[in-house]
Amino acid sequence: MENNIFIRKLALNDKPQLDDLIKKIESSLPHHDWWLPIPQEAYDHFFDESWTLFCGAFDKEKLIGASALFFNEFEYGKTVSYLHLPAQKIAEIGRCMVLPDYRGKQLMFQMNEFLLNINPRKIDSFVATAHPDNISSIKSLEKSGFIKQATFVKFDMKRNIYLKKA
Ligand SMILES: CC(C)(COP(=O)(O)OP(=O)(O)OC[C@H]1O[C@@H](n2cnc3c(N)ncnc32)[C@H](O)[C@@H]1OP(=O)(O)O)[C@@H](O)C(=O)NCCC(=O)NCCS
Repeated sequence: MENNIFIRKLALNDKPQLDDLIKKIESSLPHHDWWLPIPQEAYDHFFDESWTLFCGAFDKEKLIGASALFFNEFEYGKTVSYLHLPAQKIAEIGRCMVLPDYRGKQLMFQMNEFLLNINPRKIDSFVATAHPDNISSIKSLEKSGFIKQATFVKFDMKRNIYLKKA
């Protein structure tokens, strides 16, 4: 990683930068169906530690990327229902985003390694989804050890489901 780029947990005072980053990502998507619209209920819990853990990549003070671990069934329930996993500690990695100018520097990979290593709840199984054509997302997940399990349709959009055991 370049010298001035670092990754840390996001806190409530990072919310304005996260909102701005999300707007930039949503307005520059290569394909709109690579990014599921954020439900209000999920958005309202982005800084609720019992539900979400967001990390961010910074270039000095500027937020240039983010990724999250979701611990709540509202987030991972539908994905997990396709996998028929036995009851265990599960979290979904999602909302991976990197500003266009910073892509291809493995920031998604580095942020997800950060989240997987913190593993604050001793999660057994991590799930993730990606559109089958979202090559950078898929490559990065596979590099982190995620293995494709199935393809399904979520909110009318195709998604590969990935699983990684802790
Ligand atoms: C998806 C996203 C977060 C990836 O961020 P990133 O930091 O560029 O990803 P990484 O650098 O960790 O990994 C990208 C990998 O895909 C590879 N890649 C990218 N495009 C590729 C292509 N067309 N063919 C082959 N490999 C490709 C890169 O070389 C890299 O592989 P490497 O680690 O072996 O070098 C970023 O593109 C983004 O914000 N997209 C818009 C939002 C989005 O789609 N989010 C995902 C929701 S599931």
